[in-house]
Amino acid sequence: MGTIAAMVSIALGAGSADSSPAAVWARACVVCHAAGGPTIIDLSTQAGVLRHRGLSRALLLDGTMPPSISHAHAGPLAGLHALQPGERDLLLQALSTRQQAAKAFAELAPPPRSEPLVGPSLVGRGCWTVPARGGMQVRTMLIPIEAGRPHRIRGISWQPEPGTPIRMLSFAADPARLLRTMEATPGEPLECMGNAGAVPSGALGAVTRTMTSFVLPDGWAMDLPPGDLAIEVTAEPAGRAMPVRPSIRLLPARASDSRTISAVAMMPSGLELAPGACEERVLDHATRGATPFVGAIVKGGAFLRSVAIDAIGPTGAARPLLAIPDLRMALVQPLLLETPLQLADGDIIRVTFGFDNSIANPQQPHDPPRPVTTGMPPEGEDATVVLLLGQ
Ligand code: HEC
Repeated sequence: MGTIAAMVSIALGAGSADSSPAAVWARACVVCHAAGGPTIIDLSTQAGVLRHRGLSRALLLDGTMPPSISHAHAGPLAGLHALQPGERDLLLQALSTRQQAAKAFAELAPPPRSEPLVGPSLVGRGCWTVPARGGMQVRTMLIPIEAGRPHRIRGISWQPEPGTPIRMLSFAADPARLLRTMEATPGEPLECMGNAGAVPSGALGAVTRTMTSFVLPDGWAMDLPPGDLAIEVTAEPAGRAMPVRPSIRLLPARASDSRTISAVAMMPSGLELAPGACEERVLDHATRGATPFVGAIVKGGAFLRSVAIDAIGPTGAARPLLAIPDLRMALVQPLLLETPLQLADGDIIRVTFGFDNSIANPQQPHDPPRPVTTGMPPEGEDATVVLLLGQ
């Protein structure tokens, strides 16, 4: 069982109806906050809870944790770590004093171990150092993929080093090696997006610190063409200069992963956001033939603040699949339906992007705001929703 399956079974309570604060905590918080997990904060022991009690309570109160992308109201594509009605209050109560927390979390059960995801390690050491200070930085790195070998994968996994400045990694195939022709200095990371030709940045998946693996549901796989694998790395300065070393694994498809996923990128083009502007863009994708909708990858810069995905049938009735009102790029994760949704020929998948270039946007890099156009973050906006569709 891979990490995602393990997470889902934790999220569903895996057969236990335990609704004590410790059980809710294990399901909603420890899943991302265990030792060796994607964050540096360990909330898996009583001592850990007591150490971070005040901050945890504040983040629960203002809705920052668990991340909004996983709230139940975000639709069936999200909700993996959602709190059920009443559970937020239950945790707030248990955290309200040190004594209460010590009692409620006395026997915090260690999280079940999931088998590590194994596969050939593609990326060795990196070649880029982020400076001590400044805003988010984005670079694209290239890894050659040999021809002549089948590269059918079911996922990607990233092993973040402790304290890594990397927030997010997006993967795209560049079979024609277009990016190399744009490379100024051979061997150096690129100052450009991984959007090469028909293959957009992020089309093979994206992993972040809230979800360090991207694994397709059982039975599905993606074909990785020979050429280059473009890895777009988003890193955030953390007070001292640090090397950026993405270490990722490709997870080979098994014989049973016989159905193929194709990635359809929805990218609003020609954005021009005036200072202070809030703007919505709607893009439609019409399905051709019966199409299973498997999931979506949301990617963007500082100005993408909301994303909605709806499936629209012949009567015009919309079926909401995703509604994220408060997107934070450092907390996005690949979104997969537990069971693929069967769409009929001609059904529309509608993606609504919400952009905010006002000072009220908590991700706003400039005060006062400056004009923003389509382009590379942090100055530009590269919002993309990649739809993962079965064939
Ligand atoms: C989907 C993964 C995920 C879940 C679920 C989650 N967190 Fe977090 N949490 C994060 C990430 C990512 C960070 C950012 C820290 C980092 O980058 O290392 C974070 C940060 C925090 C911080 C530190 C904030 C700071 O400013 O230093 C606390 C405290 C915290 N989370 C508490 C919680 C609590 C309590 C829950 C459960 C109610 C929870 N988290 C659920 C991913 C998660």
